[in-house]
Amino acid sequence: MNINGTLWRTIWLEADQRTVGIIDQTKLPHQLVTARLRTAEDAVVAIRDMLVRGAPLIGAAAAYGVVLGLLADSSDAGLEAVCARLIQARPTAVNLRWAVERMRNLLATLPPDERIEAARREAAAICEEDVQVNEAIGAHGLHLLAEKYRQTGRPVNILTHCNAGWLATVDWGTALAPIFKAQAAGIPLHVWVDETRPRNQGASLTAWELAAAGIQHRLIADNSGGWLMRQGQVDLCLVGTDRTAANGDVCNKIGTYLKALAAADNKVPFYVALPSSTIDWTLPDGSAIPIEERAAEEVLFISGLAEDGSVRRVRIAPEQTRAANPAFDVTPARLVTGLITERGICAASRDEMRRLFPEAA
Ligand code: MRU
Repeated sequence: MNINGTLWRTIWLEADQRTVGIIDQTKLPHQLVTARLRTAEDAVVAIRDMLVRGAPLIGAAAAYGVVLGLLADSSDAGLEAVCARLIQARPTAVNLRWAVERMRNLLATLPPDERIEAARREAAAICEEDVQVNEAIGAHGLHLLAEKYRQTGRPVNILTHCNAGWLATVDWGTALAPIFKAQAAGIPLHVWVDETRPRNQGASLTAWELAAAGIQHRLIADNSGGWLMRQGQVDLCLVGTDRTAANGDVCNKIGTYLKALAAADNKVPFYVALPSSTIDWTLPDGSAIPIEERAAEEVLFISGLAEDGSVRRVRIAPEQTRAANPAFDVTPARLVTGLITERGICAASRDEMRRLFPEAA
């Protein structure tokens, strides 16, 4: 993505071939800074503490985590240990397991002295494929936005939740890819950005991406979407997913389900954009998707830029108040208008998904 004349990706192998560069997303929107991962444990911490986040990027970071692990120990035991460790970094996004298993399946067939170079190549391939897949999602989703503009003749109002932009992937994003494409195609747009409590990925990441791309947007409190839909101010909802069950149930950032309910009640189309690496074909429906429970502190505290320019963290609830922090929810397929994949748009149903991805059957 072009940010002030510089082309960025969210993750890359450094020139030394032994360290991995990332954008440290915990510093956005106030600072665009990079960090270096030197060990597999650095990769685990970056995923767990959300320096990198978003389902596809978690997968890419885990792939490079395998490279870093093999640099320390490329034996069979080393390979198994690093894969097992990485898979535990976060539970919900299936791309993590998908990327680690893809790496392990390839590398386990090779002698240890060939593994490091092969791992570098495979991690790079996972990243390149992610970029191409997301761009294809953008091209398919663009048709929806173009059609909506053709029907109404006024800027297309899109509501999105969390961050499913280029920062959530290697590049392009999933739900925001059609929006970037539509902007480039000259389709007038306006995006309602859910702040996405408690970690505020909408406020800190999606708003930052849209501002950098010159796309009209307004930040809204998470509670505003239903009312805006009732007022006819949302043409469609467009979100990502961390794990999609084989029947089309989608698991995404907490609060997605409430938006889908409001959309259904107001006959607002609700689209979910996803690379096929996010589909968990082993799960018949969304009921068994593991939901990450994150630290209560994320709910009890909030951080932001103080007037003196420093980033401050402040408590927003009484000292004695406890908090719960489920990080994802599952939206049933019946509330989803369509899935935007790299192979086209389909209904959120077992049959339609298998039609697009027959090799998964
Ligand atoms: O907790 P996060 O920030 O990793 O959650 C990210 C999301 O929920 C995204 O919507 C999801 O990964 C799909 S994005 C490509």
